Amino acid sequence: MPNPIYVLNGPNLNLLGKREPGIYGGQSLADIEAGCKERAKELGLSVEFRQTNHEGLLIDWVQEAGEQSAGIVLNPGAYGHTSIALHDAIRAIAPVPVIEVHLSNIHAREPFRHHSMVSSVVEGLICGFGPIGYMLALDALAQRL
Ligand code: DQA
Repeated sequence: MPNPIYVLNGPNLNLLGKREPGIYGGQSLADIEAGCKERAKELGLSVEFRQTNHEGLLIDWVQEAGEQSAGIVLNPGAYGHTSIALHDAIRAIAPVPVIEVHLSNIHAREPFRHHSMVSSVVEGLICGFGPIGYMLALDALAQRL
């Protein structure tokens, strides 16, 4: 089996299920983790699934994934809109592929969500499909590996 896929989640995603369910849906992060692990198994992959509210830790994990993963599925949460450090970390681990995922369609929301600091350095971007986006990202990585 290749190195695991790191599925990394940024701030406030630990609140999924309770947080603005009209936007983010009713599934918890644990539900999404279970879905990712099931899909990964079907694809012959394994998943290392994590969440943090801290920008520096997210950067540490991207760097770790640069050494130890076959690819990253990244929902950066709000850091996707603000973090040059995250942009730089993704560039630094090239050619490890990163797929950016947002549950909501960030382009259909407030203007401050329309720009992503990471979109220009990721392999691809999936947004607006809810938890299915994570599965689509795993499918895409599986095809690419
Ligand atoms: C999000 C979208 C971001 O704008 C927001 O800050 C989040 C979640 C999403 O998954 O839709 O925390 O990344």
